[in-house]
Amino acid sequence: MALDPLQRLITAFQAAILVVGGDEFQGSNPAIRPAAKPEHGDYQCNAAMAVAKHLGRPPREVAEELIAAVDLSELAETPEVAGPGFINIRLLDGVLVDAVSAMDTDDLGVVRDEDAGTVVIDMCGVNVAKQMHVGHLRSTIIGDAFARILTRLGHDVYRENHLGDWGLPIAMVLYVLRRDGRDFSSITLNDLDETYRAVQAVAKADFQGLAAAKDKQVGPHRIAELEEQNAGAIEMRTAAGETLVALQSGQSDLVDNWQSLIDVTLGSMDSALDMLDIKMGPETNRGESFYRNRLQAVLDTFESNNLCVQDDGATIIRFNDRKRPLLIRKTDGGFLYATTDLAACQYRTQETQATRCVYVVDARQKDHFQDVFEAAALAGWNTTPSGQTVTFSHTGFGSVLGNDRKPLKTRGGKNVTLASLLHEAINRGCQEVHMRAEDPHAPTHGLCDDELDAIGRAVGIGAVKYADLSNDLVRDYIFDLDRMVAFEGDTGPYLQYAYARIQSITRKGGDDGQDAALHISHLEERLLILCLMKWNNVVHSASDNLEPHRIATYLRSLAAAFNAFYQACPVLKASSAELRRSRLRLADLTGRVLADGLDLLGIGSPSRM
Ligand code: ARG
Repeated sequence: MALDPLQRLITAFQAAILVVGGDEFQGSNPAIRPAAKPEHGDYQCNAAMAVAKHLGRPPREVAEELIAAVDLSELAETPEVAGPGFINIRLLDGVLVDAVSAMDTDDLGVVRDEDAGTVVIDMCGVNVAKQMHVGHLRSTIIGDAFARILTRLGHDVYRENHLGDWGLPIAMVLYVLRRDGRDFSSITLNDLDETYRAVQAVAKADFQGLAAAKDKQVGPHRIAELEEQNAGAIEMRTAAGETLVALQSGQSDLVDNWQSLIDVTLGSMDSALDMLDIKMGPETNRGESFYRNRLQAVLDTFESNNLCVQDDGATIIRFNDRKRPLLIRKTDGGFLYATTDLAACQYRTQETQATRCVYVVDARQKDHFQDVFEAAALAGWNTTPSGQTVTFSHTGFGSVLGNDRKPLKTRGGKNVTLASLLHEAINRGCQEVHMRAEDPHAPTHGLCDDELDAIGRAVGIGAVKYADLSNDLVRDYIFDLDRMVAFEGDTGPYLQYAYARIQSITRKGGDDGQDAALHISHLEERLLILCLMKWNNVVHSASDNLEPHRIATYLRSLAAAFNAFYQACPVLKASSAELRRSRLRLADLTGRVLADGLDLLGIGSPSRM
């Protein structure tokens, strides 16, 4: 594909700036921006001001010299100076037409990353014997969007589910269930969740371990962990400790019971993932238990390389720039959440040979990951066996709030379960779609209930995912289904609806637009083309910054550009057959970019709404 016009402009102006400004401007950024006033051009170059300042000369004069020096042959019309020294640039129509025609392929002009490699995305991370909550929802939706974007750019992506399926809390649940003679074959996630909470309540009673931990200034997650693990009625802890040892040694009836807990948890997780249309196969459910036989080796690595020290009988890793150590073995010899995470770092970089590991986990675990990543680097796991550098990163995210701006709770005050939330979203989507289908003019009028439900489901889930991904991820957001499923406003259904409307136009136009010659007869046509041309850069910037909201923002601007185009430029009733074909092709391309973008966010695009 020919170099994209924006890149050509940048190169041309870089050369001109060197001529006018001298060698100091080697490699400088020519500050090419989309035009502030589209009637005056497609782009503007704002470099004259900086060059003029350096030379101590009037900016307009420098702008004129830049125009004289820049070679835009076969790229743009002769630019004009405006205001204090802006340079307005209008690309040649033929350049726009070529660029947008070149995009009209299966990959829509999105160029794969040259250095595409293996990426691990640590997402979901549910805990056995506990209900999934909204935090897991966010981790799953965000992680899946990352996975889709990186896959689109040619990376090999593993969606890893670091299940919380091992350790003392689970042993406590197992112990209590067995003590109470519960039937494991008929147990439900609710039963497990209740037992978990009861066990936790008992454990919370003992704050000794916690106070000690706070003295040592360990991170909040570890304190929370200690709240669960370290405390507790002595009796239960001892008994659960014995259960854990028996489980670790493979006592078969216990292993069977433990497996039941996992099956029940994963069963309900799978149904939530199904509703979300997100696939995390068993091959990537590598939970904490997967690493259990690798923990001693982790400790050995740190010990034999003098990377850790003994502290009151526990093993800790110290960092140069902070007091907070990383605890990797407790005084009683037990390993911790962090030890398991180190084993996972080792596995992911040394066996899977991932060059990028992205952890999509609640922002409260920030310190934990900072420590784990630095410790992994000390052990040399920031390089793959073939010598490639590994980058680790943690993407935290904000909370999901209720309308009262407090963390989402049910009326009874309990945490909201994920399943109930998703069911409600789907219901709302279905209601909306069924209601609209009653209008005899609606494109969905006359579809059967199943078809309407399928659309409603895409709308409801699309609404949830969009709300999750359309803002800066660290921001909290309010889970307000009324607003989220609306077909107007900054919502997923708005974009889905924009796509469906385009589909109804192109359906009526048949194949007429295929490979049609493109014409630019209106400013709105031009602006739509300029917007389409951005798609490749948008996907790359979303990927480079791991910011899916860049895609959401772009899709909104594309839908707006299309609406303006559609108002100004009749498509099916265009003034000539040639223009009709050209506009149908633009409509089709817009629809495909919208669907592609929604797909990268994990959002479906029904063809009728
Ligand atoms: N199970 C953990 C939790 O719910 C999340 C796991 C995150 N992943 C990781 N590698 N630690 O808090």
